Amino acid sequence: MPDNALLQCHKLSKFFAVKSGFLGKKRLLKAVDAASFVLDKGECLGLVGESGCGKSTLGRMICGLLAPSQGSVSLLGRELPLANAQSWAAGRLQMIFQDPFSSLNPRMTVAASVAEPLAARGVGRNERLLAADAMLAMVGLEGVGKRYPHEFSGGQRQRIAVARALMTRPDVIVCDEPVSALDASVQAQILNLLCDMQEQFSPAYLFISHDLNVVGFMCQRIMVMYLGRLLEEGPRDELFAHAAHPYTQALLSASLESREIDEKAVLQGELPSPLHPPKGCVFHPRCPKAEKICTQEVPAWQTLGPHWRVRCHFAQS
Ligand SMILES: Nc1ncnc2c1ncn2[C@@H]1O[C@H](COP(=O)(O)OP(=O)(O)OP(=O)(O)O)[C@@H](O)[C@H]1O
Ligand SMILES: [Mg+2]
Repeated sequence: MPDNALLQCHKLSKFFAVKSGFLGKKRLLKAVDAASFVLDKGECLGLVGESGCGKSTLGRMICGLLAPSQGSVSLLGRELPLANAQSWAAGRLQMIFQDPFSSLNPRMTVAASVAEPLAARGVGRNERLLAADAMLAMVGLEGVGKRYPHEFSGGQRQRIAVARALMTRPDVIVCDEPVSALDASVQAQILNLLCDMQEQFSPAYLFISHDLNVVGFMCQRIMVMYLGRLLEEGPRDELFAHAAHPYTQALLSASLESREIDEKAVLQGELPSPLHPPKGCVFHPRCPKAEKICTQEVPAWQTLGPHWRVRCHFAQS
């Protein structure tokens, strides 16, 4: 592994057994299919893709909240015991969710919620609460520790969730759509807070979002996911200027207002059901470049430049 590699996912997969169709026959839904990538120390790596493509499932596996069906996650070269919150890595990986209510107990004061991750480390109650108050002040909420989650706005609750995630000084924070539920003006404040906290405490972020504008603001590197598969990964500037995968191109023209829209790059057709993923390249039914080979063969990764790779039979044409 390179020196600055922090977290490595190797062929990480999650298959759900789901009943489908008239007879309720069980089928395997490949929510995440063999995702391999490296998160570097202190970076902010983006993960984008449409709803249901497997972003949260990938994030939850990394944080040990969901057991993978296959594959492994390593932190600093050591494989993590999977889906085990009591592992040696407890507290080194944290997650921030779209809805901060899900991580805040409505019956606990916010200081008690923020302090909770330290309990597993054996820190005494008073010390924990003092540390929580100090962290709340760092995220811009001084002197609020004795109040309850319902007394705060959505943006303030997300600040509390950020404070809670930072308490154990984690190496990695998976931010799963952390601003998607917030008003645009509040979104910017929370994104700035995440940047400030990264400067202060240097966690690496895996930043999940369906919004390329937000990901472009936050991330130096971006991965693109579609129907459970990673299709392209590259530095933000290269990707935004010369996206190689037709799916990345389509996402970009749909979301970046300043770009000239290339008619061919507009996403066509419906998102296929993940229970019946297309053969060959999963994107081929919606792809303007698709040819016969795309319906038959899964494209291999091709390297286009430093840290830039893509899975498309026609990436360079
Ligand atoms: N517990 C589960 N049982 C069965 N299927 C599941 C389960 N959790 C997720 N899925 C399915 O796995 C796929 C990926 O879901 P996931 O929530 O990871 O997507 P996502 O990219 O985070 O979507 P969104 O942008 O809407 O949050 C979806 O098809 C979803 O329906
Ligand atoms: Mg999700």
